[in-house]
Amino acid sequence: MDAKKAFNPARVGGIDVKNRIFRSATHEGTARDNKVSDDILAMHRELAQGGTGLIITGYVCVSKTDNAGPTTVTVTDDACIDGLRIWAETVHAHGTKIVAQLNHSTTQIFSRPKGTVFGPSPVPDPVTGIVPEPFTGKQLNELVSEFADGAFRLKTAGFDGVQIHGAHGYLVNRFLSPAFNTRDDEYGGSPENRRRLVLEILTAIKTRCGMDFPVWIKLNGSDFSRDGKGFDREMFLDLSRELAENGIDAIEVSGGTLFGEHSPSRSKSHTAYHLDFAKELSEAVDVSVVLVGGLRNLATVETILGETGIQAVALSRSLIREPTLVNRWMSGDLRDAECVSCNGCFNPKGTRCFFHLSEEDKAFQKRVMKLMGAMGKKT
Ligand SMILES: Cc1cc2nc3c(=O)[nH]c(=O)nc-3n(C[C@H](O)[C@H](O)[C@H](O)COP(=O)(O)O)c2cc1C
Repeated sequence: MDAKKAFNPARVGGIDVKNRIFRSATHEGTARDNKVSDDILAMHRELAQGGTGLIITGYVCVSKTDNAGPTTVTVTDDACIDGLRIWAETVHAHGTKIVAQLNHSTTQIFSRPKGTVFGPSPVPDPVTGIVPEPFTGKQLNELVSEFADGAFRLKTAGFDGVQIHGAHGYLVNRFLSPAFNTRDDEYGGSPENRRRLVLEILTAIKTRCGMDFPVWIKLNGSDFSRDGKGFDREMFLDLSRELAENGIDAIEVSGGTLFGEHSPSRSKSHTAYHLDFAKELSEAVDVSVVLVGGLRNLATVETILGETGIQAVALSRSLIREPTLVNRWMSGDLRDAECVSCNGCFNPKGTRCFFHLSEEDKAFQKRVMKLMGAMGKKT
């Protein structure tokens, strides 16, 4: 087999890609009334034109029980399909593939909830303080169907695959975590029971969309919880093995939460910070492993691809700052990504690089960043 190279075409997670540098899911925050907007299309057109091999969308909501606000895309009924189709076509026009990230926000919502906020168990959210109402068993059955229905709408619209968001303290991750899942039914109490929901979601999507429709997942290698009670490395490896046995096509390795010792989006002093987890995973399972987190340098990417079983890398903030970064590197300009990992791109008006804002918007965003720091919200 040829050595893996960043810019060679490849098949990763059941999808043929033109290169191995992907955009990791990055919530756009610019949907209009939960529909695909011109801003979303413009962002993804630029990324696709800029050479990115595959784009994982920012999370989209699959469930009517999710309280995410109007700036998040929902895939909860067939009316979304036309907008999704334009989104997929916009990206495909430049030879780039597109995978949609499926999510349920549970208590990680930063606007006033429209209705009841659901979660595994009534454990207060460390950032928002919201105490969720536990899903009943029947509601969980409906939720599993909602994931499958959402995936089927995306497939119908032409998406190349879906990615279950199993990381960063959102619902699937909370079910996996003994700190947040204190249930005593078949969805909690033991590691097997905590894994039940995500395995049911995977099976339901494959059953609805066909075994050959690629289903990926983003997982935390560890939650890095301060009290050691969260999802950890051993749980990550056990779950990954079980997902592999049940047909998952790719596992993207991330880590951290908004409240743990580390956030998923760390500062500039951290580079390739989930490499150990991803490398270990690539030796343990026979599915594609994708690494995300602090990748800023092409030589590092090539070394990772060349010396480990990792199949591809995914970038978020660097591509917010420079959507054409992949083309820049391909053209031979090998300077590091310009992103300084300031996290000023977490913008309530929509994801934008801090350095691309007007002076007025920069002043507003500085106040937001100060507030997020005061709330203890780690970004
Ligand atoms: C503005 C912003 C929005 C993000 N939205 C998501 C998201 O919707 N889903 C997700 O899994 N990760 C999300 N992330 C995390 C990134 O995908 C990525 O895991 C993290 O930023 C580390 O990669 P990086 O160092 O290349 O930025 C987001 C990150 C940023 C900066």
